[in-house]
Amino acid sequence: MGVETPTTGTAAIDRDRIAELTRVEMDKLKQRIPGSRERWERGKKVMPGGVPSSFQTIDPWPVFIERGEGARVWDVDGNEYSDFHNGFGVVVVGHANPHVTAAVQAQAARGTHFAAPTQGSITVAEELQRRFKLPQWRFTNSGTESTMDAVHLARAATGRDMILKIEGSYHGHHDAVMVSVYPELEELGDRDDPRSVVYGAGYPRALTELTRAVPFNDADALESVLNKLDGQVAGLIMEPAMMNINIIPPVDGYLDRVRELCSAHGVKLIFDEVKTGCTIAPGGATERFGVDADMVTLAKATFGGYPGGAIGMTDELAELVSSGEYHQYGTFNGNPLVMAASEATLLEALTPEAYAKLEATNEKLLSGSRELIDRYGLPCYPEGMGAKGCVIFSSEPLREYRDYLSKVDGELASLAWLYHMNHGIFMTPGVEEEWTLSVAHSDDDVQRYLDAFEAFARDVTGS
Ligand SMILES: Cc1ncc(COP(=O)(O)O)c(C=O)c1O
Repeated sequence: MGVETPTTGTAAIDRDRIAELTRVEMDKLKQRIPGSRERWERGKKVMPGGVPSSFQTIDPWPVFIERGEGARVWDVDGNEYSDFHNGFGVVVVGHANPHVTAAVQAQAARGTHFAAPTQGSITVAEELQRRFKLPQWRFTNSGTESTMDAVHLARAATGRDMILKIEGSYHGHHDAVMVSVYPELEELGDRDDPRSVVYGAGYPRALTELTRAVPFNDADALESVLNKLDGQVAGLIMEPAMMNINIIPPVDGYLDRVRELCSAHGVKLIFDEVKTGCTIAPGGATERFGVDADMVTLAKATFGGYPGGAIGMTDELAELVSSGEYHQYGTFNGNPLVMAASEATLLEALTPEAYAKLEATNEKLLSGSRELIDRYGLPCYPEGMGAKGCVIFSSEPLREYRDYLSKVDGELASLAWLYHMNHGIFMTPGVEEEWTLSVAHSDDDVQRYLDAFEAFARDVTGS
């Protein structure tokens, strides 16, 4: 599957109007969420920034959620929203999914933790083996832990230390991957020989020697870097479709060449499917794009709203784990509650029919957005697959991070977010994010999204 060339409108954007609309909508949002502000002020006294994770920091302040059911969430001020954020792409089963809730309740009544294997871990591993075609699986508690183990395993298998990643990609917050996450344009260097840039304080500068970045969708640049670093690179970690700078699909043939180049250079290929896994197809990007990696990392949607992660690996890599050469540890790995949630998610909630529905709902959302973009001549385009989608505020298609930095209109994207929030759409904050649908999303939720987007389009273009 490749990238179609999207077309966008050419409506002139009046910057003064955008600034004024942003002021008005921001004021509206503040009026709607005073209870969240109260909690945020109180939270700040005990948690840095008033939030449990820095990703939950948003302007003007975080929206505190009270409960969720199906495709809807309610905040502490009683506002009800259709949830397109879905916990950063986790709750594809829908909030309080009855299958998952029953499975977790049943397990909770039988004990929540033993640090000994249970039947659930075998059942989930068997299903992941079936979906992702990798023979062996281990569990973790998050995406960060999964990608950390995968990087370690690549090093253990090759005896090399260096890791390659894609410019502008996020794989969690362990040392090896906190390099070239969101660098500035002028920091990037040559595309055939990009500079590595550490992301934030607390990560040693020496990491830039161990982790190098390459641009996405450019197999020639990868080849040139691999030739230069021949014999030194342990692994390449990448999202097969980028999902942390909006959505950028791979161009035709790119992933096949990546696979060939990695094999030719003895480099372990790691598909980070924390976002794509079990969301864009039952077997994630591996299935959708038909290219096999040496390792697949999972978390988020695979665990139905519970904190789990997994790494799929080849038999050769599994031998390093089972022999004890590589120490893959974790008190909560394979926790029975998380396994019960995942088993119900994979076997009862995310069925083939569920995937067909997700795809159909997304198609309505993408084509509805397309229609509005055309009608109002907006300089943006819709992109998506499976449960994932977004409107990208660029008048040209994005192929990689350098495009994202130079072409995306952050002001429009931020204003669209305010319109969503003020029109009952709980939307992922951040210019770089996308929506995630759940099996509970209905035509009403789609229409609600489109109505909010139309209000935005009308006001932005002064129609
Ligand atoms: C592609 C990707 N990999 C890894 C992670 C880290 O996952 P977690 O937040 O569960 O540690 C994320 C988180 O958003 C992600 O998007």
